[in-house]
Amino acid sequence: MIRGGARLEGRVAVSGAKNSALKLAAAALLTEGRTELRNVPAIGDMHAMGAVLGELGVKVAAELERGRYVLEVPADLGTEVPEELGRRLRASIVVLGPLLARCGRVRVAMPGGCNLGHRGIDMHLSGLARMGAEITYGEDFVEARAQRLRGAEIELPFASVGATENLLMAAVTAEGTTRIGNAAREPEIADLAAYLQAMGAHIEGVGTPEMVVHGVGSLAPADHEVVPDRIEAGTYAVAATLTDGAVRLEHVEPAHLTLVLDKLAAAGADLEHHDGPGGRGALTVRGAGRLQAVDVVTLPYPGFPTDLQAQFLVLLSQAAGASMVTENVFDGRFSVIEELRRLGVELNVEGHHVIVRGPTRLRGATVRAPDLRAGAALVLAGLVADGPTVVLDPHHIDRGYADLVGRLQRLGADIAREHVEDPAGAAPATPVPGA
Ligand code: EPU
Repeated sequence: MIRGGARLEGRVAVSGAKNSALKLAAAALLTEGRTELRNVPAIGDMHAMGAVLGELGVKVAAELERGRYVLEVPADLGTEVPEELGRRLRASIVVLGPLLARCGRVRVAMPGGCNLGHRGIDMHLSGLARMGAEITYGEDFVEARAQRLRGAEIELPFASVGATENLLMAAVTAEGTTRIGNAAREPEIADLAAYLQAMGAHIEGVGTPEMVVHGVGSLAPADHEVVPDRIEAGTYAVAATLTDGAVRLEHVEPAHLTLVLDKLAAAGADLEHHDGPGGRGALTVRGAGRLQAVDVVTLPYPGFPTDLQAQFLVLLSQAAGASMVTENVFDGRFSVIEELRRLGVELNVEGHHVIVRGPTRLRGATVRAPDLRAGAALVLAGLVADGPTVVLDPHHIDRGYADLVGRLQRLGADIAREHVEDPAGAAPATPVPGA
């Protein structure tokens, strides 16, 4: 429940990246022993990943309020992720590569339909098949077997984050050399590669579209600190700009946000960089009154992240003029549009383009979070709406944002968690979670 109108002021310590921490936890499966991950975000998805790893026989000790996540990986691992757990966490598909490499077989629930439109795993599977895996699948499971994976030449038709990660983890202990062409270059992949290198992997071309992996016989456990979450940072940066506030973001990596910060500055935000604690950067984001329309096109990194598209739709609803937002990564990522319209945002959708016209006065209403990022965007809209906004299904937000409500309260927002009955007329709940 949000009552809009407050300017956000204060500091936020940005968490470790969800989309790195989940993969690092999966990569720990590659070798027996103890791994400590630090700067792990206190989010629902880490608990869900803990349940997946627990099912495989890993002992997980999570102290997420301190950012610690300790994994004891046994010599004998289970090789099956049951459907219920696979559904809870779409990212559980990233155990495919490491488990196949370590155990020679794996059976994972098919991630299946989800609320970001079509999200196939064909590139994960065809890449593993090129490395010698025998793949079988049905409607609700996928199974892979291989005595020993062997290096291969793989060219991805699209720079898929998940496929790059699964293939990278499969390749590090494969026999011979694997080349992954058109590899995704997200900072979370570089973080995964750094962790694998600390375990003893030989990887070249990290951060470029061509990764070359020379398989090694074995790996040893390593500890690792998770890279800062650029999407969480971007969400708070939008919140600061939108409310005409001043928020200092600590523990960020501004180099991972270059295009996002350029767009914020073009829209009218004022940005000031500082040296932050722990060798990371800090950044103060201030709203500077009137906002200007800007166009945004989502693309794989270093392009503008799809995970900030919904938050920018809200920002641009407060900017003068017409902005065009183009979504190129997911085909179902405009589910937030209907909900934003309930709050008064003016949007026209043409295929994968949306035109947002502003500035528009938003009015509070009851809306439903259709997924994680859309849920965060609805909260942002509530921060500038007149009257109360109720965002139903906040569990989607909990999956990927550490204590969003508490952090916004500390920045001065009038926001609270309340139990409300589902009102008549609200959009139906989206049943399948999973980022
Ligand atoms: N795709 C295929 N076949 C494949 C793989 C991908 O068709 O084999 C398509 C997907 O359907 C999608 C596009 O390629 O349209 C991009 O998918 P990608 O594999 O790059 O994304 P992902 O690994 O499923 C991760 C993040 C997402 C983030 C995307 C893009 C995790 C757990 N999830 O998903 O994060 O949006 O990369 O950057 O890392 C979020 O955090 O809210 C979230 C959805």
